[in-house]
Amino acid sequence: MTAIAVLGTGRMGTVHARNLRAADPTLELVFFDVSRNAATALCAHVAGRVADTLADALTGVDGAVVATPSDSHYDVARAAISRGITVFCEKPMVIGLTEADKIVTLAERFDVQVQVGFQRRCDPDYVALKNAVRSLRHGDPLLIRAVAADRWPPSTEFMAHSGGIVRDCLIHDLDVVPWMTGRDVSSVYAQGAILTAGSYAEHDDHDMVTVVLTLDGGAHAVLTASRTNPLGYDHRIEFLGTAGTASVGLDRRTPIRRTDEECRPETVYEDFRERFAAAYAAEMMAFLRLVAGDGENPCPAREARKALVLAEAVERSIRLGRPVNLTGPVRTSGL
Ligand SMILES: NC(=O)c1ccc[n+]([C@@H]2O[C@H](COP(=O)([O-])OP(=O)(O)OC[C@H]3O[C@@H](n4cnc5c(N)ncnc54)[C@H](O)[C@@H]3O)[C@@H](O)[C@H]2O)c1
Repeated sequence: MTAIAVLGTGRMGTVHARNLRAADPTLELVFFDVSRNAATALCAHVAGRVADTLADALTGVDGAVVATPSDSHYDVARAAISRGITVFCEKPMVIGLTEADKIVTLAERFDVQVQVGFQRRCDPDYVALKNAVRSLRHGDPLLIRAVAADRWPPSTEFMAHSGGIVRDCLIHDLDVVPWMTGRDVSSVYAQGAILTAGSYAEHDDHDMVTVVLTLDGGAHAVLTASRTNPLGYDHRIEFLGTAGTASVGLDRRTPIRRTDEECRPETVYEDFRERFAAAYAAEMMAFLRLVAGDGENPCPAREARKALVLAEAVERSIRLGRPVNLTGPVRTSGL
């Protein structure tokens, strides 16, 4: 019987545990959380057992899902990788590039697959757009526009461990643009702002970031991330090419309307769990195939590292107030 440890049983640990159980009712699930109450509460809804320690949780399992706060991913993922366990790690893989390099090296040394939770890579609509873009159905890229607007600001506790808006939120689109286009990023120009109440300044963070990426060949990608959007959760992307345009994420639940229409907030996406439900289910299916030694890894550690290269460039650009050129292609390893 396949056994999977779910490490961290908060919002994403719960989503992943439910999807794992739905995908395979025979799975043995082991839950570990520094809050035993959290692990016990999840265990009551999704059958399994609660482990007392991380080491206990990792004993005898085939796979581990890391859904702890982002600044603990490095230690938790390392513990699993060095036991030879296949790992699914939530995004960002780690907070810093140095840690990312160590994870990539460790995974290769132990010959362990690490799948990072950039769920857009498993979202049917994002995958369809990526396939269209890669096959040049819409021609050569001219402009990509990505919107990432959460409905509710993060709690102070979450923010403190998140790595900030760029590494926590914008990072999804920093991953998507090179993945979708197959193009490297040659320069990054970013601005950050604090426009709403919250402890952003204390955490050296922003609640809004706007980024212009220049891709090899000259196309632009404009990415925006906001911690607050009163109408609802709005994450989408548009592609403009020399032969057409396409978008993902514009549907009747997207919290945007023409000015002559009323937006009915009860119909909009509340948060990521509603908006990306299909993608989260698909990424757990992919993870179970990896655990079984089968299938392709939708986002290996080496791929996830590239988004951190871009995140560091975005933060540097904000600090310096000018564009930052990337010296090496983002797609190739800087290790
Ligand atoms: N892919 C996505 O769309 C998406 C969406 C939200 C969150 N996330 C990521 O998922 C991760 C978890 O976020 P969340 O929203 O579920 O947070 P959360 O606060 O709801 O849950 C985190 C849980 O981890 C537990 N925990 C803390 N330190 C731990 C440790 N060292 N070992 C075991 N348990 C520990 C906490 O007690 C808590 O129950 C973060 O990395 C976040 O960036 C991804």
